[in-house]
Amino acid sequence: MPPESLNILVIHGPNLNMLGTREPDIYGRTTLDEIDSGLAVQAKEMTCVLESFQSNHEGELIDRIQQAMGSMDGILINPGGLTHSSVSLRDALASTGLPVLEVHLSNVFAREPFRHQSFISGIALGVISGLGARGYGVGLEALVEHIRH
Ligand code: DQA
Repeated sequence: MPPESLNILVIHGPNLNMLGTREPDIYGRTTLDEIDSGLAVQAKEMTCVLESFQSNHEGELIDRIQQAMGSMDGILINPGGLTHSSVSLRDALASTGLPVLEVHLSNVFAREPFRHQSFISGIALGVISGLGARGYGVGLEALVEHIRH
């Protein structure tokens, strides 16, 4: 019997719309569209429906996360710089009660000390950091497996 279809919300935080040209030595040359289309193909193979949302505005991200309650089964998120600053984003994610997988393209622990702290990790199922664009696929797989088992 095929598995039940899952709805996964993918959230991309501030500045991630600039991927491809933004500090490529750190974040690589893959664009956000390429990441999203790769994830969509992978999601289909896993009988999942993805919805991707990017914003540079904290409040918009929080609004979208709040709407996920009751309609989504899990959240894959790269919170960008808000990782290290936003209690409100953490609270929004926690309030959904949904499993959250945190992804970073770069290895934040090998960078500046202010990037070593994440307000999100404490409520996340897990964190993937430093695998570049590949980390999103690994994260999606882990999230879906967690929800299904
Ligand atoms: C990032 C790491 C953050 O420290 C940074 O502010 C970003 C991107 C990453 O994917 O490596 O915007 O989340």
